[in-house]
Amino acid sequence: MEANTVIKKARMIGKCIPAFNIPHIPMVKPIVQAIVDENSVAMLQVARVEWEKMQAESLERVAEEYEKYKNDEHTLLHLDHIPVIDEDYKPVLYMQLIERAIIAGYQSIMIDGSRLDLNGNIEKTAEAAAAAHAAGIPCEAELGAVMGHESKELPPYEQIFAEKIGFTKIEEAVRFVEESGCDWLSVAVGNIHGAVAELVRNQKKPEAKLDVQHIESLFQAVKIPLVLHGGSGIRHQYILDAVKAGIAKINVGTELRQTYEFALEERANDIEYAREKVYAATREYIANYLKNTDLKALLGE
Ligand code: 13P
Repeated sequence: MEANTVIKKARMIGKCIPAFNIPHIPMVKPIVQAIVDENSVAMLQVARVEWEKMQAESLERVAEEYEKYKNDEHTLLHLDHIPVIDEDYKPVLYMQLIERAIIAGYQSIMIDGSRLDLNGNIEKTAEAAAAAHAAGIPCEAELGAVMGHESKELPPYEQIFAEKIGFTKIEEAVRFVEESGCDWLSVAVGNIHGAVAELVRNQKKPEAKLDVQHIESLFQAVKIPLVLHGGSGIRHQYILDAVKAGIAKINVGTELRQTYEFALEERANDIEYAREKVYAATREYIANYLKNTDLKALLGE
C-alpha cells in the first residue's frame, strides 16, 4: 500500500484513516493486531515528543518494533509531529530527523512549522516536502495551532472554541498548500491535543467540539485531504460529520496511551494485560467510533 493513495481513496469513499500514536513500544503489537482483526486499514505513528518525553525511545526503535509485527495489507508507518520549534520553544534539527525516518522506512512524514509565522512555515514545509517527495513519500503539514502540546496552561476550552483561537484561516491555507507543496493538511478547527505536559498527562481531556462548517470550507478551498489531530475525546457526532466534510486522517494518542498506562498501574507491570486492554480499545475505536470495520474491503487495496 502507498500512503497517499490510501488517504485519497479513503477521502473518496467518505472514510478516514486513523493514525495511532506509539508512546510505549509494547503498544505496537496489539494495535497492529486490532487493525488486522477489524479487517481495516490504519497507520501507526510516533511524534518526536513521544521519544523525547515519553517511552517511545527513538524513531528507529519504533520502526524496528513495527517491522516485527506489521501487516503490509493493513498497516502503514507514519512519522508524526516533527516540530521546527518544539513545545518548549526550542529549535529542532528537523531535517536530520526526517532524513533518519526516510532511512528507517517510514511511509509518510509530518513537518510541524505551526509555531512559525506563515512565511516561515511555508519555507520549512517546502524543504521537508521536497525531501519526502524525493524519497517517494507524502508530507503532512500543519497550519493554525492545534493547542495542547505546550507546557504552558491553555485557555479554557470553551473560550478557544468561541473565539476560534488558533483556527486555520482559509485564505492562508490556500496560499500555504500552493506554495509549500504539502500533500495533507492538519487543521485547527476546535480540536486540541491531549496534553503531554507532565502535570496534566493523566487527566481526562476536555471533550472537544469541531467547527464542521469550517472544515468543509477549508476542504473546498484547498482540495487536499485534511488531517484532524487530537482525535481522543471528541464528541462522536462531530467526528462522523468531520469525516464527511473533508477529514481523511485522524490522529489518536491520549486514549490508547492512557488505556495502556492505567492498565499497568492496575496490574503492576503486567505488559500482556496492558496490551490486551490496548487491543480492545483500538478495536472499539475502529469499529464503533469510526465505523471502519472492513475498510480494507471498501478501499479495495
Ligand atoms: P490525542 O492525544 O488528543 O488523541 O491527539 C493525538 C495527536 O494528535 C497526535 O498527533
